[in-house]
Amino acid sequence: MKIEIDYDALKESVKSLIVEDDWIISNMSNVSSFIFGEVNDLNWAGFYIMRTGRLELGPFIGQPACVRIPLGNGVCGTAAALKSTMLVPDVHEFPGHIACDENSQSEIVVPIKYMGQVVAVLDIDSPMRNRFGEKEQLFFEYVAKEIERVWDKEINK
Ligand code: SME
Repeated sequence: MKIEIDYDALKESVKSLIVEDDWIISNMSNVSSFIFGEVNDLNWAGFYIMRTGRLELGPFIGQPACVRIPLGNGVCGTAAALKSTMLVPDVHEFPGHIACDENSQSEIVVPIKYMGQVVAVLDIDSPMRNRFGEKEQLFFEYVAKEIERVWDKEINK
């Protein structure tokens, strides 16, 4: 039976889970765990954070992953370089895809921006080909916007 996810309900939960006064790493950790628990058929959910001009591994749920991704490399580095969501139905067809978990078949990466600059990316992997469609894209872009909402507070602490 196909599971229908109520993304509107998940959005409400994400909104209350991300608390402006909490540390950004705590917010990212809880969001990773929430996504992994609520969205079916995922094998990795988490963040890479921009540090000294490249992406570095942030809070996540899943198998241990590569720690550094240069801008423009892999799906994550491409999303960060292009400042736009990358929806990859089949990772084997994405030139330069970085296989951290060889179970991954499809992937979506959404950049998180602060003052026009990419400060992190949200990365979600699935062991199913074609797992992510428009509904998922809109949901993960909402999650990214919610992290953006508290980023300002974080860096001005
Ligand atoms: N597949 C990503 C690397 C990160 S792992 O999926 C967790 C990429 O190609 O950038």
